[in-house]
Amino acid sequence: LNYNVHRERRYILEVLFNGLRRLEYRGYDSSGISIDASFSSVKAPLISGFNSNSSIAPPPLVFRQEGKIQSLVKSVYQEVDETELDLEEVFAVHAGIAHTRWATHGEPAPRNSHPQSSGDGNDFLVVHNGIITNYEVLKETLVRHGFIFESDTDTEVIPKLAKFVFDKANEEGDQSVTFSQVVLEVMRHLEGAYALIFKSRHYPNELIACKRGSPLLLGVKDLEDEGSIGASFTDSKFLSSNDQPRELFLSSDASALVEHTKKVLVIEDGEVIHVKDGGVSIFKFDHAKGRRGGTLARPASVQRALSVLEMEVEQINKGKYKHYMQKEIHEQPESLTTTMRGRLIRGGSCKSKTVLLGGLKDHLKTIRRSRRIIFVGCGTSYFAALAARPIVEELSGVPVTMEVASDLVDRQGPIYREDTAVFVSQSGETADTLQALDYALENGALCVGITNTVGSALARKTHCGVHINAGCEIGVASTKAYTSQIVVMAMLALAVGGDMISNEARREAIIDGLLDLPNKVKEVLKLDQEMKDLAELLINEQSLLVFGRGYNYATALEGALKVKEVSLMHSEGILAGEMKHGPLALVDHNLPIVVIATRDACFSKQQSVIQQLHARKGRLVVMCSEGDSASVSVGGSCRVIEVPHVEDCLQPVVNIIPMQLLAYHLTVLRGHNVDQPRNLAKSVTTQ
Ligand code: G6P
Repeated sequence: LNYNVHRERRYILEVLFNGLRRLEYRGYDSSGISIDASFSSVKAPLISGFNSNSSIAPPPLVFRQEGKIQSLVKSVYQEVDETELDLEEVFAVHAGIAHTRWATHGEPAPRNSHPQSSGDGNDFLVVHNGIITNYEVLKETLVRHGFIFESDTDTEVIPKLAKFVFDKANEEGDQSVTFSQVVLEVMRHLEGAYALIFKSRHYPNELIACKRGSPLLLGVKDLEDEGSIGASFTDSKFLSSNDQPRELFLSSDASALVEHTKKVLVIEDGEVIHVKDGGVSIFKFDHAKGRRGGTLARPASVQRALSVLEMEVEQINKGKYKHYMQKEIHEQPESLTTTMRGRLIRGGSCKSKTVLLGGLKDHLKTIRRSRRIIFVGCGTSYFAALAARPIVEELSGVPVTMEVASDLVDRQGPIYREDTAVFVSQSGETADTLQALDYALENGALCVGITNTVGSALARKTHCGVHINAGCEIGVASTKAYTSQIVVMAMLALAVGGDMISNEARREAIIDGLLDLPNKVKEVLKLDQEMKDLAELLINEQSLLVFGRGYNYATALEGALKVKEVSLMHSEGILAGEMKHGPLALVDHNLPIVVIATRDACFSKQQSVIQQLHARKGRLVVMCSEGDSASVSVGGSCRVIEVPHVEDCLQPVVNIIPMQLLAYHLTVLRGHNVDQPRNLAKSVTTQ
């Protein structure tokens, strides 16, 4: 945050803390903050190593804590109290940086938290998302130059490299080296993925942000037109520093910005944003431009237009719910409506309904003619694609193969120019999915993106795609994004298969089913109490199996994933057709098993599975279509969950909801953190 008019200094601290709270869902094992210290507070014990005769500013203050954001907040205010100084006195804050971490290199501990420092005096400080892959080589070189490393992170090389570059420029007589020149030089040496914000004692009240791979946004809030935020804004004059007072925000995620402003710049790979006294300059990183004749190259600035965020603050609040996951489960009737809005329309000349996906319309022919459609994703997004696979195959007539993103990259599986690769990702920033996308692009496939995040790397790098418009999802366990992804892929199947007369009736039935789906989801949400009761029964179990097949193979896998990731109970999704090839050995009178047996072409096969599990004394909970209890409960001996019946390819949307509710209630009853499950993160932006 950079602030160019005088307001309470505490305000800036609070804005930073609040931003961290908004981002806590992305990482939550440790956090840190850095802000400028004021000259008048140099006697404060907080500021070690400051020499009041020095011509440069006192070192910025750094606070780092393990654990939740609240422990950082406490520690900052506690230290201030201990100094018995007025907060206004201690912090000359105009530019501050803060970070919440999900550990990759190095255990969660204050020394591994960000900001990472160049060393004593905090000449350069850096917060980093991503991974620096060549950090070991850089570290060796810096150690040879006398730098002492204190953390186990890859990030620490960055501020140290900045100090090295800065000192070298000064030794060589380049006293006027700018902050952006230093950072551009640092970038030349970094490999891997990053979004970085730099702060420096040598450049108080300035910040530099840059990125490659990981997301970063600049938010601009003009203080004079508070209230009119959201107006279209493409005026490049916003870049200059002295026309009007404003606050500037940098964040990896729109959810930390939206309560301040909706005017944002989506920073692109290779751009360097220099924030100084409320003004912004943007430079383009050019690998070829480095040192020239001993001095650092002076970059030319570029101009960019702002865009307007389509996000409301209410979307990122819990409202009447206790947890985000609970809220997101219950808002699925609305999120699905938004996903379909404007996309299901009546055809022009005839009465029949059709699907309009603007982002795909110029590519439908190519998709229809592809030799293969390859779905690529991770976690829940992969399962959503798996749920949609049968209908895409059926309506398009094109073979569909499935790829877990990391596995495709590991195998370097064959991808051809005649293939269409569809990348599914809620965040649009998952590192494995993006790497698989780069690989498919290199191999010449048509790349389609399906994502919830406008402006994400996935949205920008794919040739075409569809936004799922499910609204911001904050619970780490994906719920509403999953159902919206399935619906988008069902619409994709309709659009791709849209020219076949032979399946017209089927397409119409699916469109009718889609239009009625939000109502059916409202009905299935009424099972909340029933699922809570079931959770109470299962609370002390060690393990839960979930059997599904056909359209609901994905439901079994995703249902089990929900249970294990949040309630921390072991759970496995099993393809019922494979039951006799191993899983049956696990079945006894202790093990609880959910069998999904809603009406579709596989129903009679699932009835037979139920019989066989029952014969082995399995403790069965059967999910069936309304009115089918008697045909699945083996003489009333099984617990039954009845769900509304919908068109077979849409049934996974309905069927996953009781499983989401079960996972939610199990987690609350078992006393675990619903929204921030142990060791997990919402967007896995590192490999
Ligand atoms: C993480 C999240 C999951 C998510 C997966 C893929 O593991 O915890 O909820 O399904 O990443 O994320 P994406 O953003 O690509 O859908």
